Amino acid sequence: MQDLSAYNSFGLHVRAEDLIMIHSVEDLKKVPGGQVLILGRGSDVLFTDDYQGTVLVNDIRGLQVEECGDDYLIKAGGGLLLDGLIEDLVARNISGLENLSAIPGTVGAAPIQNVGAYGMEIGQVVESVTFYDLDRRCAGSFDKEQCEFGYRNSYFKKHPERRLFITEITLRLTREFKPKLSYHGLEGHIFETPYQLREQIIALRRKKLPDPKKVGNAGSFFKNPQVSTEKAQDLKKIYPDIPLYPQADGTVKLAAGWLIDKAGCRNITHGRAGTWESQALVIVNRGGACPHEIVALAKYIVCEVMNRFSIILEPEVRIYGARGEVSWNSL
Ligand code: EPU
Repeated sequence: MQDLSAYNSFGLHVRAEDLIMIHSVEDLKKVPGGQVLILGRGSDVLFTDDYQGTVLVNDIRGLQVEECGDDYLIKAGGGLLLDGLIEDLVARNISGLENLSAIPGTVGAAPIQNVGAYGMEIGQVVESVTFYDLDRRCAGSFDKEQCEFGYRNSYFKKHPERRLFITEITLRLTREFKPKLSYHGLEGHIFETPYQLREQIIALRRKKLPDPKKVGNAGSFFKNPQVSTEKAQDLKKIYPDIPLYPQADGTVKLAAGWLIDKAGCRNITHGRAGTWESQALVIVNRGGACPHEIVALAKYIVCEVMNRFSIILEPEVRIYGARGEVSWNSL
């Protein structure tokens, strides 16, 4: 059995039958049949058990920058760290990804969840995603539309049965530096360079979110729920300070962190699991936690939020049991 504690940012002591580092498409062609699980660095996963199969760790690197009219086309290996890529691009004065600075995890994992922070999502700048189909044993590629990006969602997340291993992503970034400042902590700021914006984002993240190198966590544990306008208005009457984010489709997004906080679940501890003191949406491993302690705390939070607001929170992290991905409701 192989230890997975370095491959899940909760730092849980779980194991897999086997673990293979994938450095190239050639390596993928040699992957044996049977049950496999594709991992980046495990920064958005919760293992509830030892995995009875082979874990494939994406370690495909490589970076190519092409000039294309007013844009750059960036081809980045799926196993690169997303933050390493952003640091590299900013050093070359190439902008467009700074708002995603310091998000843990790999480039290949980013389109799966359509990672987003501080007013942008990766899907906005994806040109195409290249993958290796582990079942059909051939390479393929999706353009942005085929990726079906949504809030923390994509074709890849909706179809885990396809077993598509993301080998490379191509991003289209404009040459002109156009800082994205819609997030409430950034409005009104002036940034002369992508480096300055990246520094500000890193500072914002550090203020609110725990560093997974020091405290085991997987970022936001739950998704921000979307409700009808009527439900949002009813809540506003009772809680005038509730943050509401109207969406283009007529629904209203609520801040799960705010709901959890108001339900009395910020900075609480259950066993060796807890919620972060400055961001209740983040469940942390306070040291030596077992998977069931994380699950028990998360279920408790769901009940408290349900009782207080009649809203059902759903996890943002992906949950894996002994035989693969499991649904939250089955736990
Ligand atoms: N809030 C509270 N108490 C809390 C947490 C939040 O009152 O304990 C309030 C905040 O004051 C704010 C609102 O809730 O008014 C929203 O909080 P924040 O701006 O921190 O953003 P979020 O909606 O909680 C999302 C992403 C984060 C991302 C931030 C910044 C999701 C599930 N989470 O959090 O992404 O970093 O916005 O853009 O969409 C992640 O996905 O792992 C992640 C960390």
